[in-house]
Amino acid sequence: MFVADLLKDKVVLITGGGTGLGKLMGQRFGQLGARLAIIGRRENVLHETAEEFAQAGIAVFPFATDIRNPDTLHQAFDAIYAHYGQLDVLVNNAAGNFISPTENLSPRAVDAILNIVLHGSFYASLEAGKRWIAAGHRGTILNIVTTYAWTGSGYVVPSAAAKAGVLAMTRSLAVEWAHYGIRSVAIAPGPFPTEGAWSRLMPTDELAQSVTDRVPLGRVGRYEELTNLAAYLISDQAEYINGEVVTIDGGEWLQGAGMFNHLTRLTPDQWESIRAQMPGKKPT
Ligand code: HXC
Repeated sequence: MFVADLLKDKVVLITGGGTGLGKLMGQRFGQLGARLAIIGRRENVLHETAEEFAQAGIAVFPFATDIRNPDTLHQAFDAIYAHYGQLDVLVNNAAGNFISPTENLSPRAVDAILNIVLHGSFYASLEAGKRWIAAGHRGTILNIVTTYAWTGSGYVVPSAAAKAGVLAMTRSLAVEWAHYGIRSVAIAPGPFPTEGAWSRLMPTDELAQSVTDRVPLGRVGRYEELTNLAAYLISDQAEYINGEVVTIDGGEWLQGAGMFNHLTRLTPDQWESIRAQMPGKKPT
């Protein structure tokens, strides 16, 4: 759906780029001509992914670091600039999450999620933003949030609080840094079945099925639907999109929002009989 060189000349840093949606986005961006930097905690995983990308002819620079540590994150940015001499796009993709009754969480569990999602995305945005501003270089920040960033959600409360913060950061920086030529946008994915997310959020077949059942379109997301959206948003074709969060969830979050949405389960016969009972209405 895109010209092959849509992202040519762009250097794109993806946090958590060694696995899951981060890796899939990297593949797509690379196919479209981007040069990649990927960071993540596990050196072996990063290098395996980098090897795969290299074999597919994609330029990639892996650097193992934990985005919760601002000092090593700073070193990662230095290394990326030393390697490529520039950065054009930051994708804040790295996340941490698991389901749990909130009252069972320890402070360390809360910190783990908030530090990865909120602090990590903030630290990375600061690193990119400061360098872009100092160099007068245009840039794009793409944050991967979630639909419950604005509704909240039980049982993933640290994640909901952290993603809400990232969404606020997206919209705030979209205004504050626009005059430097820095765009800030977000994607809110619904259910996309990656191993990392599914093992922590849908650990049984029954839970996984219950999520699919909630999606008005009746299915989970296809990876290429998300990766193509991300490619468009970081491309020059989307230069006037700033501060926007694009939902890609098959209508899942709205399903729970509309008071009468549960009426999907009524049969045509039931509708007929309801209509017949209404004052002044005749059956069709
Ligand atoms: C309760 C838990 C727990 C669980 C960990 N903890 N898992 N508490 N239930 N299931 C507690 C630990 O006991 C510990 O507290 C604290 O959290 C930190 O745990 P560690 O394992 O020491 O932390 P760490 O090694 O930093 O691992 C971070 C992590 C882990 C978030 C816990 O799951 C991780 O690395 N995740 C990264 C990948 C990931 O989560 N991907 C899914 C993203 S999905 P105590 O007090 O015992 O020391 C996503 C999408 C959302 O975000 C949208 C979906 C539709």
